[in-house]
Amino acid sequence: MITVIGAGKVGSAAAFDILRYKISDVVLIDTNEKQAKGEALDMMQAAPAIEFDGKIRGTSSFTEMAGSELVIVTAGLGRRPDMTRFDLLKTNAEIVRGVVREIAKYAPKSKIMMVTNPVDVMTYLAFQESGLKRCCLFGMGNILDTLRFRTYIANELGVSREDTRALVIGEHGDSMVPLVEYASVSGIPITELLGYEQIERIVHSTVTSGADVISLKGSTVYAPGTVIAIMADAVLTGRNRVMSVSTCLCGEYGFDGVSIGVPVVLGREGVEKIIELKLSSQAREKFAKSVAVVKDAIAMLKT
Ligand code: LAC
Repeated sequence: MITVIGAGKVGSAAAFDILRYKISDVVLIDTNEKQAKGEALDMMQAAPAIEFDGKIRGTSSFTEMAGSELVIVTAGLGRRPDMTRFDLLKTNAEIVRGVVREIAKYAPKSKIMMVTNPVDVMTYLAFQESGLKRCCLFGMGNILDTLRFRTYIANELGVSREDTRALVIGEHGDSMVPLVEYASVSGIPITELLGYEQIERIVHSTVTSGADVISLKGSTVYAPGTVIAIMADAVLTGRNRVMSVSTCLCGEYGFDGVSIGVPVVLGREGVEKIIELKLSSQAREKFAKSVAVVKDAIAMLKT
């Protein structure tokens, strides 16, 4: 069973995709019980069409997460168009501290996927507060940025998005590092298919992609929702997917004391393995800057 904490737009979209992909039964928890129950009832009414015969229930009671293999934390404020993800830091940190205490009480054996922003800081905070092994706790961030990077590459080339492969590392935020040297279309490096200006434009669009949606419709929903489901599938079915997630570094890439986006093998144990890429000096410098940005935000939690 999967518990989704937070029945807002992202949490509900993720819950529905988890049902639609037939990954698991879902408990949807929100302090607003009517919201949680209403979302669950709405999804249940779609069940015949998505051939889902499992269970989806909405509740405000944290006790109902007992027995969950995975708890997905989306609770917290979303940013407004004029905000960065870091503007949510203090408010969402308090919410996450409370949620992690409830998870420790009612689902101590579950893995935790952090979605609440700023997700790298929240993932590190949850790691510190939960006492879980670091493999059992990871944040949804760069895999979403990677899908956006892939979409923009495919659109620029007029090719199938399925055939594009890419990686984004670093903060799930303005200092993220879309790795041009690891981007390809059916194995062909994009540097052989696109000019410098085109690539720079795609990289910039990737970095601003979340804010671009928020400025138009107030929040991102479908992309994060489906990415959360893909990550949940990798864990529950042990698919050992290779994707960039926020994970706590203990010396990898030369850093510790931070959770940040790097490629990992995501499977039944959570972060099965952290993959250390060979990075160009430019990418390494950008990644180091991104680590510093997240570490500064983590330090702000202690003030
Ligand atoms: C986004 C949120 C999930 O980038 O941070 O859509």
